[in-house]
Amino acid sequence: MKLLDLYAKLKKDINSIEKELERSIDVDHPLLRDASLHLLKAGGKRIRPVFVLLGGKFGDYNLERIKHVAVPLELIHMASLVHDDVIDDANTRRGQLTVRSKWDNRIAMYTGDYIFAKALSIVTRLENPAIHRIMSKALVEMSIGEMEQIRFFYHTEQTVRDYLLRIKRKTALLLAISCQLGAMAADAPEKTARLLYRFGYFAGMAFQVRDDLLDLCGTEKEIGKPPGSDIRQGNITIPVIFALEEPRLRPALLEELTRIKACDGQTDIHRFLEMIRGSQGIARAEALASLYIDKAIAVLQELPDIQAKKDLTGIAHFFGNRSY
Ligand code: IPE
Ligand code: IPE
Ligand code: MG
Ligand code: MG
Repeated sequence: MKLLDLYAKLKKDINSIEKELERSIDVDHPLLRDASLHLLKAGGKRIRPVFVLLGGKFGDYNLERIKHVAVPLELIHMASLVHDDVIDDANTRRGQLTVRSKWDNRIAMYTGDYIFAKALSIVTRLENPAIHRIMSKALVEMSIGEMEQIRFFYHTEQTVRDYLLRIKRKTALLLAISCQLGAMAADAPEKTARLLYRFGYFAGMAFQVRDDLLDLCGTEKEIGKPPGSDIRQGNITIPVIFALEEPRLRPALLEELTRIKACDGQTDIHRFLEMIRGSQGIARAEALASLYIDKAIAVLQELPDIQAKKDLTGIAHFFGNRSY
């Protein structure tokens, strides 16, 4: 299944979320409004709200209630991207200028803070402290994940475990709670919400592994930013960790990484990209993403046979192969 087919089915509700997102960041301050709207209008896959909607289908689906988690989760994602682009000195995202590049870093920091604050103000309209707790906890973990990423910049001795823990925090948890909170906002059984969390977690791990593969192997047109952005920033991702395990490649790769680090990422990286693309790291990372997808799909087997289960299966397959 293509992502677009699924979206066609959920179109009415996605459109309603989209309107709500726009309304949610509207503010009587031109700069804050323009900067917030800029990223929203650049598009994006809206995976997190889609996970919320599908999670909600396992309970008593009421869009008016579910919106109160779907909108904040996309806002949290957006805010983290605005901040992430400051950390990464990124100039483009979703094929458009980043907030930091169109305005500046300070404006991006406050825009991100503002979007986070809006997320809180919407979710607290649901009087369910368990939902608030889960969301805050995920935000704390995301911050730790991002800090850990900085701590591990150019760290060539890091292990696969270090990497997995980091991507769990920075990416997989938000996707996991999107599924879980959708179910909780629809008063689905606790066990269902727990299984959905596990599905989102495994799918989220595959999602970030693919993201890291795309950064190394994708084209600028596919990924909306220049390839190799991760290494320019010092972020050593799983295909690189695997490639470093190849004795034939390791010495030259280490040398190349030292050179890139010495230039603070501002150098020609095509040799590095060629080495990685020619290594076993790519196939091994692809296999890892598939393994997580298999795990995600296995979790779904334990859930009731409703349309949303088929849709989640379709998304999981998309995650395993995605090129955008
Ligand atoms: C990008 O997420 C950041 C990661 C967690 C890898 P998405 O790929 O979901 O970004 P958009 O929202 O579709 O642009
Ligand atoms: C996800 O990681 C960022 C956040 C969780 C905020 P990336 O740094 O890989 O995201 P992209 O590649 O810039 O979209
Ligand atoms: Mg980034
Ligand atoms: Mg990335």
